[in-house]
Amino acid sequence: METLSEQSRALVIGASGAIGSALVEHLLAHTPIQGVWAASSQPASARLMSLAERYGDRLRTLEVDITEATSIQRMGEDLAAEAKPLHLLINAFGFLHDERAGIWPEKRLEDISPEGLEANFRINTMAPMLIARHCLGLLNHRERAVFATLSARVGSIGDNRLGGWYAYRSSKAAQNMFTRGLAIECGRRARRVICLALHPGTTDSGLSRPFQARVPENKLFTPAFVAEKLLTRIDRARLEDSGGFFAWDGQPIPW
Ligand SMILES: NC(=O)c1ccc[n+]([C@@H]2O[C@H](COP(=O)([O-])OP(=O)(O)OC[C@H]3O[C@@H](n4cnc5c(N)ncnc54)[C@H](OP(=O)(O)O)[C@@H]3O)[C@@H](O)[C@H]2O)c1
Repeated sequence: METLSEQSRALVIGASGAIGSALVEHLLAHTPIQGVWAASSQPASARLMSLAERYGDRLRTLEVDITEATSIQRMGEDLAAEAKPLHLLINAFGFLHDERAGIWPEKRLEDISPEGLEANFRINTMAPMLIARHCLGLLNHRERAVFATLSARVGSIGDNRLGGWYAYRSSKAAQNMFTRGLAIECGRRARRVICLALHPGTTDSGLSRPFQARVPENKLFTPAFVAEKLLTRIDRARLEDSGGFFAWDGQPIPW
């Protein structure tokens, strides 16, 4: 990545997830970056422990519960106390289903539940908003910085031809609207911050596993492949791209 140097620092939130941990690994293995903060609800996960063994001090873990505003606020304050600005922040978390809680993407209207709406909106919409609220200051400095959030093509209103998945689609559409608004506000007060909504493509992970059966084999990406593609898109992003919604291959997606 040409935009990251030995002086750069990144924060990946949802760092124990399939794509989140692949992003952390790619940053550490393939860029000269000084350090990566890996924020996770399980900072001692096997994925992060294995990365810590390989990359030592360049990886710092941090516990955060993205469903709790106070936990997000504490993360922002702890990182601000380090007094080291960030050059990249990636929201790599997301929610689609929770079998134990009986939450599943809706096929029809009657499947909509308050619990499903609450979980999707709390994680996919509220968390990125609160993270921006408490962490934008860490990115607002004299150098180029990127605030990226993993979205999903199914959150595109213009692209919705199948219906269903009401809570997930709506929470991602709202997240995209937020990214757009954030880009406009950054244009006024944080002019070097580029805000992006990114679709990773169908990727092998716990989130997509129940829906992989009908995905052709060559269309199911590995997290490592997707991490490389997303970081390439982030690397190429210019200020004019801020507020945009892009797929893993760099192509813009209609709102
Ligand atoms: N996989 C796909 O095919 C696909 C397609 C389109 C879009 N996406 C998007 O890509 C992003 C990453 O998904 P993924 O495929 O990597 O999924 P994943 O492996 O299931 O990871 C999601 C991560 O989100 C965090 N998270 C989820 N629910 C949480 C909760 N209740 N409380 C706290 N943290 C929670 C966790 O991170 P920690 O364990 O670190 O806390 C979890 O590991 C999501 O935004 C998803 O919508 C994925």
